[in-house]
Amino acid sequence: MDRALRFFAPPSAPARLASAVRAQARLLTPGDLSALLELEHEKWNAVQAASRAQLLARIEAHPELAIGAFCVHTGKLLASLFLKPVPDDFDRNADTWQACVAAAPLSDSRSLFGISLSSRDAAGVDALFAFFWPRALARGWRYIYLGSPVPGLRAWRRHHPHGNVEDYVYRRQGGRPLDPQLRYYHRRGFTKIVGVKRDYFPHERSLDYGVLLRCTVPLSLLAPVWRRLPAAWITGVTHTFASFL
Ligand SMILES: CC(C)(COP(=O)(O)OP(=O)(O)OC[C@H]1O[C@@H](n2cnc3c(N)ncnc32)[C@H](O)[C@@H]1OP(=O)(O)O)[C@@H](O)C(=O)NCCC(=O)NCCS
Repeated sequence: MDRALRFFAPPSAPARLASAVRAQARLLTPGDLSALLELEHEKWNAVQAASRAQLLARIEAHPELAIGAFCVHTGKLLASLFLKPVPDDFDRNADTWQACVAAAPLSDSRSLFGISLSSRDAAGVDALFAFFWPRALARGWRYIYLGSPVPGLRAWRRHHPHGNVEDYVYRRQGGRPLDPQLRYYHRRGFTKIVGVKRDYFPHERSLDYGVLLRCTVPLSLLAPVWRRLPAAWITGVTHTFASFL
């Protein structure tokens, strides 16, 4: 089974049941801004966190690409994801997070850039992607890029003062990236490293480096098929595939 499928799939059996009842995703609206700000400040520091105005701008710019996952019992926001369309040769020019966010969006590309993913509960991330997967297929999205911090870099450098950043980024342990956050994304289907970017985003433990990763939307090669199917059918297909994992 395509490793990338795991990114979009609910977790394995017992956890799946728990997640399914705990988190539900939907498109975000301006009414979610207070909850988004609270999550933002819980997961990012004062320099990194988006402001209310920036969050609102993201929702307004691409309402179909601003997604939140909520606890079905309390209504609490568990995770948020903001995406934007980018050119298909995006990785060639994506030098800093700021530049990626500021770049003019495209309406006819097959590629997306993940402006931000924030989560306080992994069930929320599962719900976000289970929600997004059929929509991505229906719309014809093929690639998702994101810039990941490498939070283990600073500590690694202390022990390898002459080591270069690429050595760390490409280093594997048991076949998976050494860095905990690259490992996290690898597990979720972002297996392709397309660039290592200096001064990408202010992040102390990453020494301000970012690693541009790419995930191929599972089953997206069959775009002509998905275009002809009703949305509910595509959702059914993605649920079926996810349940094989
Ligand atoms: C990255 C993030 C979205 C993951 O959320 P999640 O799906 O709820 O998963 P968790 O936070 O429980 O982390 C899952 C695993 O990845 C590891 N991981 C993820 N990000 C990590 C980081 N920055 N540093 C260390 N470990 C990290 C965790 O240690 C955990 O490992 P475990 O399963 O062995 O305990 C969330 O931690 C977050 O919002 N972080 C801050 C913002 C951020 O870095 N966003 C991504 C930018 S592209």
